[in-house]
Amino acid sequence: MGRVENKVALVTGAARGMGRAHAVRLAAEGADIIALDQCAPVATLQYPLASRADLDETIRQVEAFDRRAIAVEQDIRDLDGMRTGVDAAVAELGGLDIVVGNAGICICAPWADMTPAMWTDTIDTNLTGAWHTVMVGAPHLVRRGGGSIILTSSVAGLKVQPYMVPYMASKFGVTGLTKAFAAELAKDNVRVNSVHPTGVTTPMGEGGLMDAMQAAIAANPRPAVAFTNMLPVDMLEAEEVANAVLFLASDEAKSITSLHMTVDAGATSL
Ligand SMILES: NC(=O)c1ccc[n+]([C@@H]2O[C@H](COP(=O)([O-])OP(=O)(O)OC[C@H]3O[C@@H](n4cnc5c(N)ncnc54)[C@H](O)[C@@H]3O)[C@@H](O)[C@H]2O)c1
Repeated sequence: MGRVENKVALVTGAARGMGRAHAVRLAAEGADIIALDQCAPVATLQYPLASRADLDETIRQVEAFDRRAIAVEQDIRDLDGMRTGVDAAVAELGGLDIVVGNAGICICAPWADMTPAMWTDTIDTNLTGAWHTVMVGAPHLVRRGGGSIILTSSVAGLKVQPYMVPYMASKFGVTGLTKAFAAELAKDNVRVNSVHPTGVTTPMGEGGLMDAMQAAIAANPRPAVAFTNMLPVDMLEAEEVANAVLFLASDEAKSITSLHMTVDAGATSL
């Protein structure tokens, strides 16, 4: 018996990185998966986003566990499009129990170099997209009599992470969304928690993001102390965050709501 046996989970940003890890981990423990990703680039980003081939690979890995998987190619910034795509997939799978709002982007630059487009892209994706994810997913969980929502924030949603003003604002926003939705959805037995990773090895860190980070540190080194982990590890693996998501999704966490769970090697406390 898996830890989320016969549940149905929606995972956003599921084509690669942590989203794929969440989808595969949940499938390994018995869940069917709705894997949503926009599979399209965003012009302001310093790294490429996922492709349709990436999303298809996630589907393949889920199906390898003999679970049902539906790919939804959709931008979380588009509420109506997201609702149409998710509702159709939920109808096909017979309901929804778990929502993992993981899709997100990160732009790194000194505060004075951030453009309005960078601000808008980050807030629309990370904060408004997370709100859309709950607005689309929660009604299905309420109909089911309960469920679990996990939103991906960051260490940057709990403490300073420099050179990313829009990202930090968006991730503190996700922390607030978690508290706000947890309070109102509790009466329907829907739990809402957030996870807060420190640096994780994913394709987000490929391309130019790390170069931009190094340039920002060189120009203004003092705030970079905030990136230090307490444990002697620089980067985590996506599966470590997936283990936390699985726990929060499962009935093992049935009395846990409004928790901001760090998976951060102690970074938030340092
Ligand atoms: N990698 C890290 O160090 C780190 C640390 C803390 C938090 N996070 C957060 O974890 C989450 C996952 O990050 P990751 O490192 O796996 O990144 P990633 O870039 O590897 O994966 C993100 C996925 O989200 C998708 N996506 C982006 N915008 C989308 C949109 N508008 N609609 C639908 N899909 C969209 C991308 O195509 C991609 O597949 C993000 O919310 C990120 O902010 C990452």
